[in-house]
Amino acid sequence: MVSQEPREDRERLDEQVAYYRARAPRYDDWWLRSSDYALDPGRKAEWDAEVARLETAVDDLRPEGSVLELACGTGLWTRRLSRHAEHVVAVDSSPEAIERNRERTKGCVEYVLADIFSWEPREHYDVVFFSFWLSHVPPDRFAAFWGLVRRSLAPGGRAIFIDNLWGDGTRPAAPRPNTFEQARTDAGNGRRYRIVKVFYEPGELTGALEGLGWHAEIGATGRSFLLGWARPVTPSSSSRRGTPG
Ligand SMILES: C[S@@+](CC[C@H](N)C(=O)[O-])C[C@H]1O[C@@H](n2cnc3c(N)ncnc32)[C@H](O)[C@@H]1O
Repeated sequence: MVSQEPREDRERLDEQVAYYRARAPRYDDWWLRSSDYALDPGRKAEWDAEVARLETAVDDLRPEGSVLELACGTGLWTRRLSRHAEHVVAVDSSPEAIERNRERTKGCVEYVLADIFSWEPREHYDVVFFSFWLSHVPPDRFAAFWGLVRRSLAPGGRAIFIDNLWGDGTRPAAPRPNTFEQARTDAGNGRRYRIVKVFYEPGELTGALEGLGWHAEIGATGRSFLLGWARPVTPSSSSRRGTPG
C-alpha cells in the first residue's frame, strides 16, 4: 500500500536512508560499544550482559522456517537468524550495509536492496524479524508498516522484533522526548541528518498492536532493549485504533 507521501515526510525518509548508507562502515561500533560509542567499564559490562540476554531470548523465540528480515543492516542479527532458519530473505536500502552483511553470513542469505516503504513481498514467511527498525518508522506510517508485516506472513506466522528503550543509561537522564525527529551527526562525514526515532515502552506498543488486530507479547530485557513477538488475530486491520505516541 503506497500512501500519499508529503514531500517533507519523503525527504526525511531519504535522509534516513542516506544517513545509514554513510554510517554503514562504522555502524557496528555502536553495537559493540567501541570507538566513539564506548561506555565506561561498569556500563559496558551491563550492556554486554543485556546483549547476551537478548541474544538468548531471540534464540528462545526460535525464528525457524522461512524468515524475512526487514532493515537487516550489517548482519548483526542476520547471522543469528540464519542459524535457526531454513531460508532468510534480508531487505535493506543500503548497499553498503548489505555488502557487510553478505560478508558476515557467507552466502546463505538472499538479499533485496529496497525501500521498505514501497517494497512488497513476493512470498509469505513463517517469521518477519526486524531489529532497531520499528523506532525508525514515522508514527503516521505505523499502521501501514504493520500492514506490510501482515501481508508478509504465512498463516500461523509471527513477527519478532527488538528495539531500544529510552532510559538505557547511554544518554543523559531526561524525560522521553515527545518528538520523533532526531538530528544525527555520527555518520563520519561531518554531515547532519534528520532521522525518525520513536522510543516505545512495551505496554504502549502492545496496546497499539492490539488496536491493529494483533496479539503481542512484548517485554524488556533490562534497561536497554525491548523484545517482542506478535501474530495477527484478525484477518484484516479494520479495528485500527490509531498510532502510538
Ligand atoms: C538502526 S539500523 C538497524 C540494522 C539492523 N537491523 C541491526 O539491528 O543491526 C537501520 C537499518 O535500516 C535501514 N533503512 C533505513 N531506511 C530504510 C528504508 N526506507 N528501507 C529499507 N531499509 C532502510 C538502514 O540502511 C539500516 O541498515
